[in-house]
Amino acid sequence: MQNVLIYGAGGFARELAWLVEQCAAAGQALAPVAYIDDAVENQGREVNGLPVLSLAAAAARHPAAVVALGIGSGAVREKLDARLREHGLGTLSLVHPRVEMSRFVDVGEGAVICAGSILTTNIRLGRQVQVNLDCTIGHDVVMEDYVTLAPGAHVSGWVVLGRGAYVGTGATIINGTEARPLVIGAGAVIGAGACVTRDIPAGVTAVGMPAKPLLK
Ligand SMILES: CC(C)(COP(=O)(O)OP(=O)(O)OC[C@H]1O[C@@H](n2cnc3c(N)ncnc32)[C@H](O)[C@@H]1OP(=O)(O)O)[C@@H](O)C(=O)NCCC(=O)NCCS
Repeated sequence: MQNVLIYGAGGFARELAWLVEQCAAAGQALAPVAYIDDAVENQGREVNGLPVLSLAAAAARHPAAVVALGIGSGAVREKLDARLREHGLGTLSLVHPRVEMSRFVDVGEGAVICAGSILTTNIRLGRQVQVNLDCTIGHDVVMEDYVTLAPGAHVSGWVVLGRGAYVGTGATIINGTEARPLVIGAGAVIGAGACVTRDIPAGVTAVGMPAKPLLK
């Protein structure tokens, strides 16, 4: 049996604990054993029947455990990923039993794919990529490390999402072409419900239909 620590104790962390339970119910030898929270005031509490521990306490109590990152922000996952490596803790990729995908999908270390998502073919998910509930990802998509898709996001074929890009809930990205993939730059944020029809530069927040940079 592989013990699993969930980093975080907020909304997505609790959903991730459920995902681990669903994988276990489908026959994978996994068991969530604790949440990890850096906020001292939360440590020592119990959340949904599991203790909330500091990273040091969790590593001491469960030295053979692996960690799943229950955090929606790719930038935060990147920082935590580095800390876990310093503590010698490995991470776990999780694919919900009700995900459909072909054998031509590479799932990077620590990546999480939630229930109801469909990934077709020739897709690469980098390290700690997070695909939330009910997303679709078409052919020839590359999602670099720490990319996040919020629930119900749709990514069409021949799209590249740069490191740490974030796609909000219900957003749609139309297809690129083989010769010229549509590129969402590193760290770009696509607002909830947006429709992306052209490349979005790195670091830009874009909203609306068609998606345009958000000017404040
Ligand atoms: C796009 C986004 C990142 C902007 O956040 P922000 O920088 O805090 O922006 P604000 O809330 O200050 O809004 C600024 C303006 O953009 C508008 N706006 C915000 N989000 C928008 C969206 N998704 N689509 C269209 N307009 C949006 C606001 O109405 C506001 O307009 P106004 O100035 O005319 O009043 C955010 O609203 C968003 O959509 N995040 C995705 C959230 C999500 O999918 N969560 C899933 C969790 S699982």
